[in-house]
Amino acid sequence: MSKKPLILGIESSCDETAASIISENDQGNPVVLSNVVSSQVDVHKEFGGVVPELAARSHIEKIDLIVKKAVDDSGIKINEIDAVASTAGPGLIVCLSVGLSFGKAFAASLNKPFIAINHLEGHALSPKLNSKLNYPYLLLLISGGHSQYLGVKNLGEYKRLGTTIDDAIGEAFDKTAKLLGIEFPGGPQIEVLAKKGNPNKYELPKPIFNKGGCNLSFAGLKTAVLKITKKIKSDQEKFDLAASFQKTIIEILYKKTKIAFTEFEKEINPKEKKFVVAGGVAANKEIRNMLINLCKEKKFESIFPTIELCGDNAAMIALVGLEKFKLKQFNKLDFPAKPRWPLDENAIFLKGAGVKL
Ligand code: KG4
Ligand code: ZN
Repeated sequence: MSKKPLILGIESSCDETAASIISENDQGNPVVLSNVVSSQVDVHKEFGGVVPELAARSHIEKIDLIVKKAVDDSGIKINEIDAVASTAGPGLIVCLSVGLSFGKAFAASLNKPFIAINHLEGHALSPKLNSKLNYPYLLLLISGGHSQYLGVKNLGEYKRLGTTIDDAIGEAFDKTAKLLGIEFPGGPQIEVLAKKGNPNKYELPKPIFNKGGCNLSFAGLKTAVLKITKKIKSDQEKFDLAASFQKTIIEILYKKTKIAFTEFEKEINPKEKKFVVAGGVAANKEIRNMLINLCKEKKFESIFPTIELCGDNAAMIALVGLEKFKLKQFNKLDFPAKPRWPLDENAIFLKGAGVKL
């Protein structure tokens, strides 16, 4: 029996320093041997958001320890590693540079191939770590920096169907949380508070609800939330606003996902109808439940990463590394950090004033 590949993945694009070793079983399915994630929540808490310079410093302080722990936890020896895969973008350049340089140096010292990974491709493939999933599929990527519907045709082949024209959905959750006085990172707390509130108390706007295909917009929501928070007096009103906000997001995603289903079928003409939801916001149970029900209604199979693998991690980076390793898609050591690196390079940029939909 031939030796199974062992891939080291490294992630440092934002505020998580992470490393993971993965391999595969006899059926060709990925096996996670270790997955170490160190969050910097405490570093950024007092500033109410991620401070790039502090994030980079924290990555520098921890990256060697995190990689060592990932190797130790996996039970393998360093010289058994077959390739090193590091996130090269998109993200904060000062943060990306840490994991990217570390990964390149590690690969060079082992004399093994280096693979540069797109962080978004990591999220896109993350459900493969816990379920069997063949191409093509429709992907809804909802994180702190991105909100997109993409047709995933193959490894590295993406067709963007819709994107946010302003804020990302996770950003909208975090900003709403901040306005409600919830400590950073507040997104997950909105889900908790919403359980105690009346979702019908406040009527919030749904920008580009009836136009723009499956493109999304969340900036107007923040302004509406800001106006209401100025008048809020009780905790109950806070809960009501959290619930109303979450309900509005769910109504937007329900409508836009239905449009994305139609566009995916028209554009890709798939044999099987599969819908993957990934990224930090995919951890939200209310959003999950609505999307699962919509899939039942529209005869799509719904596929999610496990809750732990929704947020940033290096197992998903190592997984893309494994797929690329098998295809011998290696990169040179001068591969640059790419703060902006869309999955569909041909899609037009749709952010900022004057966007026509
Ligand atoms: O994928 P991720 O860990 O990092 C990025 O690549 O952006 O996503 C983080 C985002 C944050 O905005 C966070 O508030 C949001 O995911 N998030 C949630 C929940 N858990 C994480 N938003 C809503 N409900 C949740 N349960
Ligand atoms: Zn992410």
